[in-house]
Amino acid sequence: MVVRGGRPLSGRVEISGAKNATLPAIVASLLVDAPLVIAHAPRLRDVETQVSLVESLGKRVHWEGSTIHISGEAVAAEAPVEIVSRMRASFLCLGPLLVRLGEAHVPLPGGCVIGTRPVDLHLEGLRKLGAEVEVREGVVHARGKLHGGQVWLRYPSVGATEQLLLAGAAIAEGVEIVNPAREPEVMDLLRLLSSMGAEISFSEDRIVIRGGELRGTEHQVIPDRIEAGTYLLAGAITEGEVTVSGVRPVHLTALTAKLEESGAEITSNEEIVRLRGTKPWSGVEVETAPYPGFPTDLQPQLTAYLALAQGRSVIWERVFESRFGHVGELLRMGARITLQGQAILIEGVEELRGAEVRATDIRAGAALVLAGLAAQGETRIRGLDHLRRGYENMEAKLAQLGAEVWVEETSVI
Ligand code: EPZ
Repeated sequence: MVVRGGRPLSGRVEISGAKNATLPAIVASLLVDAPLVIAHAPRLRDVETQVSLVESLGKRVHWEGSTIHISGEAVAAEAPVEIVSRMRASFLCLGPLLVRLGEAHVPLPGGCVIGTRPVDLHLEGLRKLGAEVEVREGVVHARGKLHGGQVWLRYPSVGATEQLLLAGAAIAEGVEIVNPAREPEVMDLLRLLSSMGAEISFSEDRIVIRGGELRGTEHQVIPDRIEAGTYLLAGAITEGEVTVSGVRPVHLTALTAKLEESGAEITSNEEIVRLRGTKPWSGVEVETAPYPGFPTDLQPQLTAYLALAQGRSVIWERVFESRFGHVGELLRMGARITLQGQAILIEGVEELRGAEVRATDIRAGAALVLAGLAAQGETRIRGLDHLRRGYENMEAKLAQLGAEVWVEETSVI
């Protein structure tokens, strides 16, 4: 992707359904034979991968616009390695296969550039519910009839919470998760499982889910708060005026609070957020944390924005051990950033210059697009497949906001 920088973005962009709500929703289809309809699903590579996972397990899937129709009986207990190694979220099929078929064989998801990303909390939780789990040659072999119980999570892991909710939806005695993740995407999965027939109650530090006679249902996923945050930061870094529509403003509070603190103007109503960026904006201090804290998935994009702030900023990345792939690339564009342990220390500079850069993961790629939008000259971002995994129609949406952006086929990989 090539971005010619230096122009303020302005206008309105419609936000797609949330990738990280769609991925667990697709896996929930494994719990029932009846049809499951998922509306407002984004057409993303990761979503296509998750669809091919449930197809490989026996489901029939077809799209109608942005609605996914899933039906048929999951018969296979074996998840294909080429899918699970490609995308971590496919590991969520372990719990549903186990409760439906009494066994499941799922390859361990690979780590990725942002960290080793273990799944020990998933496995410990399922063991607590009676599963026999062993790992041989990189494949998780689980078997047994699951019973209810209480699972305490030492860390409010999104994936582990979703894994246990998906299994718990089919366990009559009930599963209590203490210290669960509270991300909006987890709440959306709860809403889906409840409409499929599970009984759910939760208080401030625990969720209780009781399995019932599960049925098919129709579900519309929530808007993608990370996509929305990315476009707001695109408006801020280019001193533009950007409106994101079809969003839940409450899901963006941590970002909008920090943007206001740095000097941007934010207004919102029930389903839009409007931002007006003005130079200079000031540096801020922030740390990433589980929801409702500042989302780690917007940390790279915020790093790009603060690279052009007046003064210093510190961003503490507390969720992943090494989510810094974007820093080296931003340095090549003239940013002044140093890393000290989990802290990203940023000295604001007057300008960034376009360069040849490479995306190392979805959100690092988004950060480089934002930097390119504000830089002098052209920025060539390789690793487009990372962006395709997480951003639907990104060029079209950016062009709609007035960005000069295009895609070049490159011969060199
Ligand atoms: C989900 O990943 C998201 N992915 C991530 O978004 C997001 O960054 C992350 O939550 C945090 O919000 C999807 O929802 C598909 P975690 P997940 O389990 O479930 C450690 C994107 O760009 N951990 O909350 O993997 C883990 O190593 C992606 O859309 C364990 O130690 O996140 C990490 O340090 C990137 N053991 C921390 O917890 C475990 O068993 C948070 O991980 C599980 C996790």
